[in-house]
Formats: sequence, structure tokens, C-alpha cells
Amino acid sequence: MELKIGNFTCSELAAKYGTPLYVYDEALMRHIIRLYKNNLVSDKFETLVLFASKAFACMAMYKLVHEEGIGSDVVSGGELYAALKYQEPEKIFFHGNNKTMQEIEMGINAGVKFVCDNLGEAEMLRDASERLKKKVDVLFRLNVGVEAHTHKFIVTAHVDSKFGMLMSSDDLKKSLEIVEKSEYLNLAGFHSHIGSQIFDPSGFYAAIDKIVEFLKGFDKELILNIGGGYGVKYTDEDKPIPYDEISKMLIKHTEDALEKNNVKIKALVIEPGRSIVGEAGYTLYTVGNTKKTPNRQYYFIDGGMADNIRPALYQAKYDAVIANKMDAPKTETVTLAGKCCESGDLIIEDIKMAKAERGDIVCVFTTGAYGYSMSSHYNKAQTPAVVFVNGDKDRLVIKRESYEDLYRNDCE
Ligand SMILES: Cc1ncc(COP(=O)(O)O)c(C=O)c1O
Repeated sequence: MELKIGNFTCSELAAKYGTPLYVYDEALMRHIIRLYKNNLVSDKFETLVLFASKAFACMAMYKLVHEEGIGSDVVSGGELYAALKYQEPEKIFFHGNNKTMQEIEMGINAGVKFVCDNLGEAEMLRDASERLKKKVDVLFRLNVGVEAHTHKFIVTAHVDSKFGMLMSSDDLKKSLEIVEKSEYLNLAGFHSHIGSQIFDPSGFYAAIDKIVEFLKGFDKELILNIGGGYGVKYTDEDKPIPYDEISKMLIKHTEDALEKNNVKIKALVIEPGRSIVGEAGYTLYTVGNTKKTPNRQYYFIDGGMADNIRPALYQAKYDAVIANKMDAPKTETVTLAGKCCESGDLIIEDIKMAKAERGDIVCVFTTGAYGYSMSSHYNKAQTPAVVFVNGDKDRLVIKRESYEDLYRNDCE
């Protein structure tokens, strides 16, 4: 038996498009977006789901996101450039702690919303909006002192984060004054993002409580953007909250907190990235050489850390199978090693797999987020192709890089 993605076997996809190959289940991504969107609803305030496009930025994805009626979170001129091809600017939220003046002007000219990270950025926004004579909606990123890591969250002073401003800080006070005095800047709301791959909602609740309390000091209805971070299943250890459930839980908690504090907001915004694309993404590799050392059985694959840096960068865990041998018993304890010139280029260590030989197809699961988007050219690896599969339809959405592509910006 063979593993299928949509109606296609992995071997068919590998034969048609080559490996390494990123495959996305388009139907699943659309389904997950709808779970979020259809359940993040309230009769007390507006709601908006944004796709945190850093998780997987490409033209086809911005188009899909637009078709599904949600917005985009972008963090660079490069992401903004593509988002603007498809999205309504008012549904684009421009994040980042060190936007350049060029990026700020690009965003202001396009009419996107800014999530201002620090005092320096507030000054830049004031100067640029005056120069361009354009109105700008500004949210401030707050450091709410809540940090969440997967199974637990901690409420700490956490004063040294690279992101956001403490609610009690002089920098925030001064930034708010800048907006207040400015003819062009409009205070649109506040934002917080407490972490990623989170399974326990209490961290989000704590962040909502802190911001709602803070909002008591303002006499207008503002946007409350509580960021992303909703967990996905990489291995059996991971137990994500279903996305329709988390949406309902966030609505309920926000409504209760607003009532308790007698506060009204204009809108609640969330920004899932990983959970929209993570589990919909698969990476297919071809097995090349295999090797036994005294303590390890290696399967060497034709990609590795250049197309998925997460295991080397932060010991990320994945599950994988020999996709063309789904019936074969998992008799081997394997290290899946990439082909980069780094001994740390190991995609999975000590995983049970079927006996494999050269030419077999490995499928690594849940690679859809922060895989392709974090890929590199180390060892002049060609960035893989990306295919969207939807039932019995498949389409190439990013071509595999050629050797010429790898050197196209070189000047001799
Ligand atoms: C500001 C902000 N929003 C949203 C996200 C998306 O988080 P996730 O992909 O975990 O949902 C991130 C991720 O780093 C972020 O920094």
C-alpha cells in the first residue's frame, strides 16, 4: 500500500515533480481557514483571521488566503510585496521590530495597518506619514509579560524581549503621545503574540485579560489582536486544540473579559500561521545511500537542512514513513540524514521505519510551516518545487530552482 496525498500516491508526485518536493493539501488548508473563520464570530465586535504568512509565503498562498476572505500578517517588504498583489490593504497587518524607512513608506503608500513595535518606529511612522501626507492606522505591539511554550505558560516580567513595549513603559507612553499629536496617525489598537506551538489556552486568556484591562484607559473602540501560536501535531506527543474550538474559546473569553471590565472593542484579530499550513504540508525525499555504523542505521535523503532547518535550528521533531511501503513492518530504527556537509544535518533521529533501499520515497509529515519559508541555499541546494494537491487535481505553485537560478544575481 502507498501513502496518498489527496488522490495521488507519493510515488506518482515524486515521479512527476522530482524530489525533494513540498506537497500541500490545499483542501485541508482551506478547511482549517474556514474552521477558524466560521467560529471566530461574535455579535459584540467584528472579527478577522489573518494568515501569518512567515509560516509559508508564496504567491499561491496569498491568493488562497484572499480567496478564503481572510487577511495577512506580513513582516517584511518582501512579504508585503506579494500580499499586496492579492489582498485588500486594510486586511494586511505589517509587523516587525525593525522596519526600514523604505518598508514603512511602502506600507503607508499601500494603506496597510501597522503593528508598531517600538518608540523609534512610532517616530518613523510620524515622519513618513507627514512627508507622504497619508493617514495610517497604527496598533502597538505590547509585551504583556506572558510567555507560552507548548504545554505551559509563564507570566513573568519578561522585560527584555526583542518585541513590543511593556504596558507600563515610558516608551509606550511616548509612542501614544506621538500618535495623539500626529495629524496622520490613528490609534487603531493593540497587539500581543505570546509564543508558538501552544496547546494550553490559559496563556492566551492571561494576555487577553491584561490587554482588556489596559483598554479601560482609552475612550474609543480599538482592535485587539492576540497574535498566533496555536499548536499543531508533529508527533503523537502533540495534542493541539481543534481550531474551531480554540476560536470559540477565544471569543468566549474575550466577551467575558470585556463585560467584566465594561470595555468595548472594535474587533478581535488572530494570526495563526503554523496551524493553517503545518499539517497540510509534506516533504517527499528519495532515499539514496543507506549506511550502518556501530550504533546507527542511516537513510540518506536527497534534501535536508537546506529545505528544513527546524531540526538543526531548534531540535524540532517530526514523523515520517517510507511512503511506497506503508504495509511493510517498521523493523528498522533509523536516522534520516540530509545531504548537506554538516554532521548536524539530521531530519529525524531514532525513528522506526520500514526497511528501505535506494529509490524509495520518504514522506516527512507536518512540514508545511517554517520549512519552505526558512529554506536556504547552503551547499548551493536548489530550493525544492512546491505542489498543491486538491482531491484529484495537482498544480505546481513554485518551480524547482535550476542551477542558473542559483547564480542569477552573481556578478563576475
Ligand atoms: C507577531 C506574530 N504573529 C503570528 C505569528 C504566527 O505564529 P504561529 O505560526 O505559531 O501561529 C508569529 C510567529 O512568530 C508572530 O511573531
